[in-house]
Amino acid sequence: MAERVFIGVAWPYANGSLHLGQIAGAYLPADIFARYHRLKGNQVLMVSGSDQHGTPITLRAEREGIKPEAIAARYYGEFLDSFQRFGISFDLFTSTGTANHAAVAQDFFLNLLDKGYLYRATVSQPYCPRCQRFLSDRYIEGTCPYCQAGGARGDQCDDCGKPLSPAELVNPYCSFCNGAPEFRDSEHFFFRLSAFQDRLLAWVKQQTHWRQNVLNFTLRYLEGGLKDRAITRDIDWGVPVPLTGFEGKRLYVWFEAVIGYLSAAKEWAESGGDAERWRDYWQDNSTKIYNFIGKDNIVFHTIIWPAMLMGYGDLNLPYDVPANEFLMIEGKKLSTSRNWAVWLPDYLARYDPDPLRYLLSAAMPETSDTDFSWREFVRRNNDELVATYGNLVHRVLTFTYRNFAGCVPAPGGFDERTLEITALARDTISATSELLSRCRFREAIRQAVSLAQETNRYLEEKSPWKVIKDDKSAAATTLYTAIIVISCLRTVLYPFLPFSSQRLHEFLGFEGSVAGDGWRLRVPEPGQRLLPPQPLFTKLDEGLIEEELSRLGQGGG
Ligand code: MF3
Ligand code: ZN
Repeated sequence: MAERVFIGVAWPYANGSLHLGQIAGAYLPADIFARYHRLKGNQVLMVSGSDQHGTPITLRAEREGIKPEAIAARYYGEFLDSFQRFGISFDLFTSTGTANHAAVAQDFFLNLLDKGYLYRATVSQPYCPRCQRFLSDRYIEGTCPYCQAGGARGDQCDDCGKPLSPAELVNPYCSFCNGAPEFRDSEHFFFRLSAFQDRLLAWVKQQTHWRQNVLNFTLRYLEGGLKDRAITRDIDWGVPVPLTGFEGKRLYVWFEAVIGYLSAAKEWAESGGDAERWRDYWQDNSTKIYNFIGKDNIVFHTIIWPAMLMGYGDLNLPYDVPANEFLMIEGKKLSTSRNWAVWLPDYLARYDPDPLRYLLSAAMPETSDTDFSWREFVRRNNDELVATYGNLVHRVLTFTYRNFAGCVPAPGGFDERTLEITALARDTISATSELLSRCRFREAIRQAVSLAQETNRYLEEKSPWKVIKDDKSAAATTLYTAIIVISCLRTVLYPFLPFSSQRLHEFLGFEGSVAGDGWRLRVPEPGQRLLPPQPLFTKLDEGLIEEELSRLGQGGG
């Protein structure tokens, strides 16, 4: 029976280009998952959008001396372009800057207020009289009261690692003008997160299918006890608070950004001509909601957003939050400010999408941090894509094309070894299906490549290029069987490598698109016309490693 799957992917801040950490952490796994479910014939809605509010955007705008709107528009356009070229197949990629999003977020706010889940309280906040603005925790600095290090931020001291609050800093100063801040009272709305403690705990304990790291982190966080959270800020960039008397305040970026999952579904429904269709995803409880995010976003997706949804009522909670760990770059922690990062637009200007999709899938940080290195990129491309998978496809298709008049050959008798290979292809289809449905992407792609390896061994054993001289029918059986495997790999690898799978689909003489072909082991008909085969992948020169390494850490992002 067809399932319905909603895939919400973390909303990237629109203050800079996408980098490989975000791709490996959220966008690629989400896309693999979406493509898999579409092949299975399930109903899929995959959405996200740029997160265009919050200090990351206003700071960048200030640095460049332009409006935050201009920064948001620039990166929104770039994100769309990068996703399209990299094959991240969103059904809708919108932004938090739409009128629809503001309306849905404000409705959410008023609904929670009405139910008593929001309350007002006065807080004392650092304010810089010279800059004439309230300073968020990160933008007030001073001496750490614990270790006496200078330059500690109002949220944390990087030297001793202690979390801080702005009032604790000794000799505090504004990080923009270095002037002395004062503390001013300001009235804000708080979300009664503490009221959801018991309901959340009971709910989280049922989520035994969650990844261990996500479940443990969430339970530990809940054990620490939930505190109410301020959900408004004294800023002028963001979604306005829908109440008179709060004109100078905006909804806190994290409060409204997560609501984007719902507002995006509404926008998608509206633009598809049936404004009520969002309900299939959010109110029909047979729908499974997945949120693909990096581990730094777990608390927002397993605690705060579910609590908001419980408060609002009548909306589905996330079914799974398969958060990934971090991707390191050449053995070091990725840092955008130090330009220790690989930027997706730069990558796409120089290389094809599938080799990177392959590497990031095979080394996905699913259960622990993993490392990206250019040497590994070249090695995996050359050894695994070119020499294992690409070579299997190329030698089978060129030899068949030449010796069997450009058609799939009719097999003769099947021996045991040959039947074993066909059975392995069938097993791979079902095993990878199971793995993909459980978000175990690394293991799924490993099994696909191992099928290609085993089939290469089978070809060596059978050597159809020698056998053909004496026994054309035996050679035909071997090639026919290898073509079954290739057809299988075309399907199984499609979620990971959509571009090369589509080309392979065409080489095999299939009509239409691989996306429309379904998740099944499709056995090509003997006599089916092949297209003149081309190599699927290209060998990469080791020289690129040095070249790319020299770009890392240069300039500063
Ligand atoms: N913009 C946030 C980040 O880059 C992620 C927001 S996810 C959302 O870390 F769901 F809250 F939108
Ligand atoms: Zn200042």
